[in-house]
Amino acid sequence: MKNNKRFTNFLILFLCSFILGACSNKDSLQNVSISQKIVRVAHGQPINHPDHIAMLKFAEHINEHLGDKYKVVVYDNGLLGDTKNALELAQTGAIDYVISSTSNLESFNNAYGLFSLPYLFINEKAYFDFMNSKLSERLYNSTEKSGLRAVTWFNAGSRNFYGSKPYTTPEDLKGEKIRVQPSPLNVAMMKALGAGAVPMSFGEVYTALQQGTIDGAENNELALNTVKHGEVVDFYTYDEHQRQPDMLIASTRFLNSLNSSERKIFNEATELAHKTELREWEKAVLKAKEDGENMGVKFVEADIPAFQYKVKKIHKEYLNAEKNSLVYYEEIEKLNNEHK
Ligand code: GCU
Repeated sequence: MKNNKRFTNFLILFLCSFILGACSNKDSLQNVSISQKIVRVAHGQPINHPDHIAMLKFAEHINEHLGDKYKVVVYDNGLLGDTKNALELAQTGAIDYVISSTSNLESFNNAYGLFSLPYLFINEKAYFDFMNSKLSERLYNSTEKSGLRAVTWFNAGSRNFYGSKPYTTPEDLKGEKIRVQPSPLNVAMMKALGAGAVPMSFGEVYTALQQGTIDGAENNELALNTVKHGEVVDFYTYDEHQRQPDMLIASTRFLNSLNSSERKIFNEATELAHKTELREWEKAVLKAKEDGENMGVKFVEADIPAFQYKVKKIHKEYLNAEKNSLVYYEEIEKLNNEHK
């Protein structure tokens, strides 16, 4: 069964490569010499998203310093499959890098479930301090057994609810069908808020909103303009229930194939991508708000304590099941206190 799935994944990848060779990535795939290894990077965002811009910088650095041996090709918009599929392909070594939200990583190691806990961080400062800490880097190795390793993180802001009505209190969410990222903790969060969770992959959300299969969704502001959700919703409510980074995940098979001088250049490219993404993120959020308003979206504030009260128990339930995450949780509590 598993082998069948792997085979199907390979088939999809090769068909994609073939199709892409004939269309959107034509420029990048042209001029690949026989001595070059193609380094495939996959993500689900459009090309104006900070994640994509960051990976273009990554590609530029590698192509400039190791261009005789490697050619980095960045596949945007989920062209190599949704994030889960892309991660499975990275496990086999068919894709070398994938940008993944932490929710999508939960099935590889539930330590990443930490970031799905609603109101884990008191504010952006605590979140940044944790992401920049040595301790958070311990999480990077947590998927090693699955053949995946995180190499850096990208900012993805805070996640908020949006739909055809404002969701300012949990009562507003009652009975609403809300799309969440596919993970049990996200489903638990919606249940605690009294709404119906509809897990689906990111690329399906626009059509689901348009066709009314779902009433709303939750994401950062960039979803409004980069993937145009602002066209099909009226209100974006700041309840700030989660701050989840996007992780840049590498296939360990690929990382292990690098010699030490190559690894150094790949590390430099990774750091460059990280810095670029963080810088681009700040500009992108401002633009998303402006574009959102021009699309007719109204931005409103939520009664945050009312939301916090409803979801508090999820922290305890998670920590009881995931004792290994306690060390991270305690550090975050410390940072929260410092930034109160
Ligand atoms: C954000 C995040 C993506 C994630 C998406 C989602 O856009 O950056 O990595 O896939 O949310 O809701 O699925």
